[in-house]
Amino acid sequence: MLDFPEYIRLLYLVNENIGGLLPEVDVNSASLAESMRYSLNAGGKRVRPVLLLAACELAGGDTMEAIPYACAVEYIHTYSLIHDDLPAMDDDDMRRGMPTNHKVYGEAAAILAGDGLLSSAFEVMYTDMLMYFDRPAMLKRRARAAYEICKASGPRGMIAGQVADIEAENKGVSPELLEYIQVNKTAALIRASVLAGGYIGGADAELIDSLSVYGENLGLAFQIADDILDVTGDEYELGKAIGGDERQRKATYPSIHGMEESRAKLSALTRKAIEGISSYDRNSDFFTEIARGLAGRTS
Ligand code: IPE
Ligand code: IPE
Ligand code: MG
Ligand code: MG
Ligand code: MG
Repeated sequence: MLDFPEYIRLLYLVNENIGGLLPEVDVNSASLAESMRYSLNAGGKRVRPVLLLAACELAGGDTMEAIPYACAVEYIHTYSLIHDDLPAMDDDDMRRGMPTNHKVYGEAAAILAGDGLLSSAFEVMYTDMLMYFDRPAMLKRRARAAYEICKASGPRGMIAGQVADIEAENKGVSPELLEYIQVNKTAALIRASVLAGGYIGGADAELIDSLSVYGENLGLAFQIADDILDVTGDEYELGKAIGGDERQRKATYPSIHGMEESRAKLSALTRKAIEGISSYDRNSDFFTEIARGLAGRTS
C-alpha cells in the first residue's frame, strides 16, 4: 500500500539518518541507548517523517534540511508507542513485529527509553536551530516547525488524547469525546508533521492552510483505520496484536459507530484530505497516494 517509489525514496532517507542523528550517550548509558534503538530500529511505516519530508519538498524546500525534524517526529512517535504499550496503559506484548520494549528490557527501562527518545527529539531540533542564528528567516521557519511538533506532542495534543483514551476505557463515550480523543492522540502529531515540513520548506500561507486541512483529515482517518484494523487486521502484517481495543473496552470508532459507518467515515475523511491538498495548484499526487494507501490498508 505504501510501496510506491516516491514513498520508498523518502523512507530510505529517514532510515539512513534516524540512527546517526540520535545523540551519542556515555558508555555508562549503553543499556539506555540499546533500548531506545531497539524500538526505533524495529521498523514502522515512518508515515510522519515521510510526510514531513514530502511537505518540505512540496513547498520547494531542500529535503535534507528537514531531516532533523523528520527524525525528531519519529523519535516522539516511537516513544509514544513504547509508553502506549506499557502494562499501565494498553498492556501490549508485540509492536512492529517484535516483543514490546518493556517485554525485553523491563518496565523501568522502557519508561526511560521513551523519555530518552522524547528528549532526543528536542535536542536534535535545537542542535539544528543553533546553526541558523545568523540567518533569522531560516531560523524562524525552523522555530515554527519545532513549535508545531512540541505543541502537538504535549498536553494540548497527544498527551491530552492519551489521557482521555485511558479515562474512556469501560465507559460509553459521546461521539464528541471520541473525536477529541482521536484528534489529539493521533491526528495532532500527523498534522504537525505535515505543517513542520511545509514551514521548513518555506511554504506560503495558502500552502500552510492546505497542508493543515490535509493533515487533520488524514490524521483522523489514520486513527479510524487503526481502529478498524484492530478488529479486522492481520497481526503479522500489522506487527502487533489485534483485539486489544475490545478486550480493554476502548472507545474506538467501530465500537461507537459500528463498522459500516467507520468505513464510510474513513472514505469521507480520505476524500477531504485529498481535496484539501489538491486545491493547491502544485503537484500533490504523492499526498493523494499516501492518503489512499493508508485507507487501503483496511480493505
Ligand atoms: C500506531 O502508529 C499508533 C497510532 C497512532 C495509531 P503507526 O501505525 O504509525 O505505527 P508504526 O510507526 O507504523 O509502527
Ligand atoms: C495510540 O493509539 C496512539 C498513540 C499516541 C501511541 P492506539 O493505542 O490505538 O495505537 P496502537 O493500536 O496500540 O498502535
Ligand atoms: Mg492506546
Ligand atoms: Mg495501543
Ligand atoms: Mg490501535
